Amino acid sequence: MKREAPAALRNRAPLLEQLRRLLPLDRPRCDVLEIASGTGTHAAHFVDALPTVHWQPTDVSPEALSSVEAHRAEREDARLAPVRRLDVCQSDDWFGDYDAIFCANMIHIAPWAAAEGLLRGAREVLRPDGRLLLYGPFRFSGAYTAESNAAFDASLRGRDPAWGVRDVDDLKAAAEGLSISETIEMPANNHLLVWSRA
Ligand SMILES: C[S@@+](CC[C@H](N)C(=O)[O-])C[C@H]1O[C@@H](n2cnc3c(N)ncnc32)[C@H](O)[C@@H]1O
Repeated sequence: MKREAPAALRNRAPLLEQLRRLLPLDRPRCDVLEIASGTGTHAAHFVDALPTVHWQPTDVSPEALSSVEAHRAEREDARLAPVRRLDVCQSDDWFGDYDAIFCANMIHIAPWAAAEGLLRGAREVLRPDGRLLLYGPFRFSGAYTAESNAAFDASLRGRDPAWGVRDVDDLKAAAEGLSISETIEMPANNHLLVWSRA
């Protein structure tokens, strides 16, 4: 069943502005792997807006897979590939090679192992000049960027002690072979972290 994510409807325009700058759109084709596609709101919007982009959506949850498929069926644009199941923690699930990986709002709503799996998998499937674009709320050296992010972190940990707003220092320490080349402030106290091969 097709669904839309209210947060993704809000952040898709500022994210698209960044994708236009960060993706290699001057090439005839730009291959993007999306991790944790959720409803498919981002996948649909970015494929519609970026004519050279070939977008591979993925997720683990059956509801997400069904919603992304509904967005794809509505479009019938071959540049939006059929959604595939990919659990970032399972190294065997990773496939292909890409100019970019896009992942929004996943690593804080999953155990720390998901952040580690994402960084490990990205290193495996990114092309030499590829980039991992990681969007969401973050802490920086222990500090929250806003009081609302601290409250959000507490509520996440209340729902599941393994969840939580991740610290960029911990992500850097966990990332082998990738480093942050750009840190972009986004609306609503979120950030877009651009990772490139170290
Ligand atoms: C809050 S939603 C974000 C969805 C979408 N990226 C967005 O911004 O609207 C988090 C998504 O992460 C997915 N997810 C959780 N654990 C995962 C894992 N281990 N591997 C891949 N996806 C995962 C969930 O199924 C869910 O669709």
